[in-house]
Amino acid sequence: MSEKDFLTKEPRVLISAEKIQQRIDEIANQINKEYEGKEVMAICILKGASLFFADVIRRIKVPLRCEFMAMSSYGNEKKSSGEVKLVLDAKYPLEGQNVIVFEDIVDSGLTLTYILNLLKARNPASIRLCSLLFKPECLKKPLEVDYIGFEIGNEFVLGYGLDYEGYLRGLPYVGVLD
Ligand code: IMP
Repeated sequence: MSEKDFLTKEPRVLISAEKIQQRIDEIANQINKEYEGKEVMAICILKGASLFFADVIRRIKVPLRCEFMAMSSYGNEKKSSGEVKLVLDAKYPLEGQNVIVFEDIVDSGLTLTYILNLLKARNPASIRLCSLLFKPECLKKPLEVDYIGFEIGNEFVLGYGLDYEGYLRGLPYVGVLD
């Protein structure tokens, strides 16, 4: 059997494309209300949040600028190495900005905690966290995520930006390989 056997199987749909888009409408509406009269500095955490980010920001009506950051903690494994590294940093100074960080999934929470501490030190006017997915059972330390798309159980998911061994990010839904 090939090592990339997973590419020949259709993943089981956990969250459909329609449900994702509906939830993104709700999150974007909430952001539009809460940031009325303000500007937003939206930070996308690459690569996993890229699809989610693109869909949310297209619905944001307040003035918005984008920055991109990349972290690594997983390599090719399904479990986090626990060591978070900054691979790409935001270029624009964040002092005085209303920052919203967009992440694909909060598992142990180590990545987002690391990012939060890093960005807080740059004195933004405010900072909020938005994650498409959240695995509450896996959280290692308390972390307040302001906007959550969906809570899921402790299973490895892929699609809609999330990968398995670098593949399957382009699926329009969130799925599971059984
Ligand atoms: P944390 O630091 O353990 O919260 O993990 C955050 C990062 O791990 C995410 O940004 C993802 O890139 C990756 N990750 C965690 N769980 C999954 C999963 O179920 N599928 C795909 N990637 C995941």
